[in-house]
Amino acid sequence: MKNSENMSQGLLKLLALDHAVDFLKNTTISSDALTWKRVCGSIATVLVILLFLSGAFMALYYSPYPGAAYDSVQYAEFDLPFGDVIRGIHHWSWNLLLVVMLLHMTRTFFTGAYKPPREMVWVSGVLLLLVVPLAIITGDLLPWTQAGYWTTRVRVSIISSVPVIGPFMVDLLQGGPRTGIVALTRFYVLHVIFLPAGIISLLALHFYFLRLKGLADPIMPSRLPKRNIALLPDMINRWLILFIVVTLAIGIATRFWFAVPYGDPADPSDSRFVPKPEWWVLFLNQLVSIFKGPFTIVGSAVIPGALAGLLLVLPFISRSPERRPVRRWKEILVAMLIAAAILGLSVMSWIEHFTSTVA
Ligand code: HEM
Repeated sequence: MKNSENMSQGLLKLLALDHAVDFLKNTTISSDALTWKRVCGSIATVLVILLFLSGAFMALYYSPYPGAAYDSVQYAEFDLPFGDVIRGIHHWSWNLLLVVMLLHMTRTFFTGAYKPPREMVWVSGVLLLLVVPLAIITGDLLPWTQAGYWTTRVRVSIISSVPVIGPFMVDLLQGGPRTGIVALTRFYVLHVIFLPAGIISLLALHFYFLRLKGLADPIMPSRLPKRNIALLPDMINRWLILFIVVTLAIGIATRFWFAVPYGDPADPSDSRFVPKPEWWVLFLNQLVSIFKGPFTIVGSAVIPGALAGLLLVLPFISRSPERRPVRRWKEILVAMLIAAAILGLSVMSWIEHFTSTVA
């Protein structure tokens, strides 16, 4: 026992990791971090790690070239052992990450955890909420399927309709009006280098500010005495257990019940193909189809931009230290009205795209 402890200490020293381990052991956080109400933050952490790992494996086989992308993904999916599971884990992890981030944001909003002094924890969280969809959008094009290709065409035309910066952004994204090899290369580089780097940096900021400001106290003071736990082993063990459970759950679900939809290879000449929007863009889609002609910009940029801006400045305009939801009923009512509008628009868009009998 003593021998193996000495060996692991020696190995940590050799790799110059002993200080990092000491730091994690000596870093303490409130034991409230282990409660169920905070599980979404931990699941989001685990899902991000899972996305990075599954993405790294897929990158070993992926070829970012229009003539080869579809076949390379198909080869990984159907010919490699567990290729379908890895692709399934990547696909369902981002879907779940969006859901879990929204739940996590809802909890921190309702409990007023975003209020001073945790403004920057909230702001870095909102930025994560804005950057993760960019990673999804760039990922959609990579398998070079009909759905991915034509969804990207729709998105590119929405971007180009934004005055002044729209055409410039399209040029930057795909090097011209065509969605071809330049677009695929740029989307790939954004997807595997720039956006992951952005997500890692924002997560580092999120945790840095959390460490600096600490977790918000529970609104209802607990009768149990407050205690601290160590990041290593207490919190990191929780993350490891969650990691194993989430990986197995998604892996088994995707292998036996929820295979990732595939589809036909992209055919840029087949402009009759009408892509169906993913669940998380349904409301944006509806906004774009409501505002037409000279008002397109209202649905494509003004309203989504105003919503993102409102989320970003929330902790700076709602500064009263009051955190109890009943005492903050006005801002909670506004948030619920906005959520109801988003849900209503999503249902309208869903009915339009998924229940229409017109071929
Ligand atoms: C990848 C995305 C995210 C990850 C991995 C993440 C992770 C975490 C973790 C582990 C905690 C501590 C435990 C907890 O309170 O749940 C936390 C706290 C917090 N997060 Fe996030 N988060 C993410 C996104 C967001 C978003 C989108 C928001 C809001 C817009 C947000 C706002 C907050 C706030 C305000 C706290 C402090 C909670 C408190 O003190 O009670 N986070 N986050």
